Amino acid sequence: MTAQLAKPATQPNFDPIARPYHWLEHLTLGPILQRCRTHHLPALTHAKNALILGDGDGRFLARLLAQNPYMQADAVDTSAAMLHLLRQNCADASPNTQTRLRTHQTSALTFTPPHPPYDLVVTHFFLDCLTQPDLEALITRITPHLAPNALWLISDFRIPTSNPMRLPAKLLIRTLYLAFRILTGLRTNKLPDHATPITRAGLTRIAQHHSLAGLLTTELWQAPQHHP
Ligand SMILES: C[S@@+](CC[C@H](N)C(=O)[O-])C[C@H]1O[C@@H](n2cnc3c(N)ncnc32)[C@H](O)[C@@H]1O
Repeated sequence: MTAQLAKPATQPNFDPIARPYHWLEHLTLGPILQRCRTHHLPALTHAKNALILGDGDGRFLARLLAQNPYMQADAVDTSAAMLHLLRQNCADASPNTQTRLRTHQTSALTFTPPHPPYDLVVTHFFLDCLTQPDLEALITRITPHLAPNALWLISDFRIPTSNPMRLPAKLLIRTLYLAFRILTGLRTNKLPDHATPITRAGLTRIAQHHSLAGLLTTELWQAPQHHP
């Protein structure tokens, strides 16, 4: 069962690209993004209650649920079409997702997590859809719902600080934002900085892996043992 809310006018609409999303990704970057999403999967075997924000068609969540057969998950996405595919992909990968997976068609920016505390939060290629103020508000909203030592898995594009890939990275990211603006109406046009606000919220980066010549990062952040 999916709860639904009206879309604010400025909210992007990923419904039209939900079905071709997988294929568009494969045609442009092959298996690289899925490798990035799943890089830290072996470190997530203890998750019991996960919050997954903007997972799109659910290819990552399907793997996570299959790996952790007792884990419950709340998946939040504004796109009904993406959530439909997410439920299908998860059901194909695990037998009992009707009782373990709760989907919410709403904005992560206004969503109140219904089943805290979470020991895992996942945001793959989602924070880069947000402006800096929205990303900071999201982190402030979510961190009080984390269990002690909870993990937050973040994958995103990045611009390498100093190597020959810096200019190509800027061009690629500008092109991707333009494509998403045309296809979904996404207004964000600049990568936000998640490291500063998440560090300020008390989390520590415990693992980081770069790929695609430094254009992709996947990071594990850990909440403190005790909330500050
Ligand atoms: C760029 S796609 C990333 C999908 C997937 N996580 C991946 O790794 O490819 C962004 C996803 O976030 C969703 N989304 C965008 N803004 C959102 C918001 N404010 N709240 C919840 N979901 C949102 C979109 O519908 C889409 O499924």
